[in-house]
Parts: sequence; structure tokens; C-alpha cells
Amino acid sequence: MNAFEKLSLPTVKHIIAVASGKGGVGKSTVSANLAIALMRQGYKVALVDADIFGPSIPRMFGVENAQPEVVTEGEKDIMFPIEKFGVKIMSIGFFIKRNQGLIWRGPMAANAITQLLENTHWDEIDYMILDFPPGTSDIQLTAVQKLNFSGSLIVTTPQEIALNDARKAASLFKNKGLEVPILGVVEDMSWFTPKPHPDEKYFIFGEGGGNRLAQELEVPLLGQIPLIAEVGEAADKGLSVYSQSDPIAVDAFDKIVESLIEKVKV
Ligand SMILES: Nc1ncnc2c1ncn2[C@@H]1O[C@H](COP(=O)(O)OP(=O)(O)O)[C@@H](O)[C@H]1O
Ligand SMILES: [Mg+2]
Repeated sequence: MNAFEKLSLPTVKHIIAVASGKGGVGKSTVSANLAIALMRQGYKVALVDADIFGPSIPRMFGVENAQPEVVTEGEKDIMFPIEKFGVKIMSIGFFIKRNQGLIWRGPMAANAITQLLENTHWDEIDYMILDFPPGTSDIQLTAVQKLNFSGSLIVTTPQEIALNDARKAASLFKNKGLEVPILGVVEDMSWFTPKPHPDEKYFIFGEGGGNRLAQELEVPLLGQIPLIAEVGEAADKGLSVYSQSDPIAVDAFDKIVESLIEKVKV
């Protein structure tokens, strides 16, 4: 494959990048829950954990010990995704021993994401959600060059520092010749509402950041997800928010998915 050739995934209809400038802003939480929300709408969904610096999707789905089946076809080893909650999952984390960070260098790092996709057997997929690594290095740029994204989502917290980095992440998708439509901004950890006081909102990380970023980028703010203990706990325990049935989180993710399927039709 030369530098300008796009990777072709004939059974995958749409690839959506979920990106952020900073780590820890909720990118994986958003990716995981959007994948599940799409699946619940009846779509065939794949979730690819391309965060080579901190793959966390296997833990969020409780499959950190799963080993993808590998079949040798000709000269190629083809991997099969792990299926959980009706979502087909592939992660760089399946190939890294726990607590052992991988040191990626140069072209190997830049090609890791495309290789992960290219060497996996995907059945028919309507939406593939790709949990991007944070930041804007060559790794992200190569992924944008090589993959045919139908759109991207920018995840941020309301803090100014997160917004600054999110702006840079957004600029990745506006590179000349590589334009990937930015479908919108998702603000995570928007506020906290104590259970006994359901009408109160505490803006722990500031207020309105997601909205400001969306206006700057001239895209919609697709949703705001409050800080909800169950959302974090569910991820830690390998459960989706749906199993915890937190109605606010479920509504927030369903609403984002509604906009997504409206903008990117299968
Ligand atoms: N809305 C939320 N409410 C509570 N905890 C959250 C929320 N969103 C994310 N978290 C927690 O914050 C941490 C960072 O989120 P994560 O999705 O891993 O971020 P990133 O992928 O951007 O590094 C995780 O422990 C996650 O469970
Ligand atoms: Mg992550």
C-alpha cells in the first residue's frame, strides 16, 4: 500500500473516528457507549480500540483476557474480533500484556492502526467506531490518511485546557486533501448532580466549554454527559451504562446516536 492509497474495508459501510486532544476526557467511555447505543438501534457495530497508548476498551467490556482467534490465510494472519454485548471488538490491548506498555516507534506506530483493521476479519458492519489515540502526532495523521472516515466526533471536557487540545485534534480532520467531516462535539463530565438534589448542577470543570468549541468549529454540540458515578463504575467493571440503567446517561448517548445516524446514513 503506498502512502496515498486508502485502505479498503469492503464489508464496512462507515468508519467514525472518536478523537480528543487530551487523554482522560472520556473518549473511550463515549466510544463504548455509542457503539452499544447503535447496536441497540439494530445496527451492526464494530468498536476498534486504536488507542495504542492506553487501550481501555477490553476492560470496559470485561474482555481483557480474551484472545482473538487467529487464522493463517496464505501469508497473512487474519484475526477475528471479540464479540461482547452484540458489538465486535478489536483492540491493540489484546496483543499487549497487562501492565506492560508497548513502546511504539516510527512507522510501526504509524501503521499499527491500519494494520489492526486490515488484518481483522470483519463481517458486514454498518458503523465502525474507532477510539482514536489522544493527540495529533504522525500516528493520528497516518490513520486519517489511510482510512476512509465518514465522519469524526470530538470529545472534550468543559475545561479550557481540554478545549485547546481538542481544537488541535479537530484540525487533524481539516488537513488539506484529507477532510473528514466533523459531525459534532461531545462534552463529557459536563456537570455533577448529587442524587438527593436532582435539580442541581455543579459545573466542576467549568461551564459551556463544549458549546464554545462547537461554535468555533461550526459544528453542533451533539450531547453533554454529566459526571455520573455509575458511568465510571460500569466502565471499571466491564459493563455498559445500559446494564446500570442510568437513565440520564442512556438518554444522552441515545440522543448523540440519533444525530449520528441522521448525518451518516447506512
Ligand atoms: N460521564 C462520566 N461519569 C463518570 N466517570 C466518567 C465519565 N466519563 C468518563 N469517566 C471515567 O473517567 C475516566 C477517563 O475516561 P476514559 O473514557 O477512559 O477517557 P479517555 O479514553 O479519553 O482517556 C475513566 O475512569 C472513566 O470511567
Ligand atoms: Mg481511552
